[in-house]
Amino acid sequence: MQSPALSALLVCTVLWAGSAHAQTGFFKDADLGLGEKLIAQSKCVACHVSKVGGDGSAMYKPLGRISSPPALRGMVEQCNTELNLGLFPEEVHSVAAVLARDHYKFK
Ligand code: HEC
Repeated sequence: MQSPALSALLVCTVLWAGSAHAQTGFFKDADLGLGEKLIAQSKCVACHVSKVGGDGSAMYKPLGRISSPPALRGMVEQCNTELNLGLFPEEVHSVAAVLARDHYKFK
C-alpha cells in the first residue's frame, strides 16, 4: 500500500523532472551561503542521520530517482511542505543548489 503523500511525491517529482530537463545553470542564481545556513538550521542532516546513520549523506542517492536539478528542488519542496519547515521558494532553491553541489553533482 502506498501512502497518498508518497504518490503525490512521485507524481510531483516526475512533473518537475519533465518540465525543465537538462537545463544548464538551473541553480546559477541560488544563494549557496543561505542554503548552507538553512540546511544547518532545519536539522535536515540530524534527521537523515537518525534514518541512515553515518553523516547522513547516505540519504542522498545521486543515482536514484532524483536525476535532475528540477527533481531535486521538487524533493526539497516536498520535504519543506510535509515537514512544515516554512521555507520560501528561493530558500528551497538555495538548499537544493547546495545539495546538488555537494552530493548530486548533476552533469
Ligand atoms: C524529520 C526527518 C527529516 C527532516 C527534518 C528532513 N528530511 Fe529529508 N528525508 C527524510 C526521509 C525519511 C527521506 C527519505 C524519504 C523517501 O525515501 O521517500 C528524506 C529524503 C530526502 C531527500 C531525497 C534523497 C534522495 O536522493 O532520494 C532529499 C533531497 C532531502 N530529504 C532533503 C532534505 C532537506 C534539504 C531537509 C531540510 C531542509 C530535509 N530533507 C529534512 C527525512 C527528513
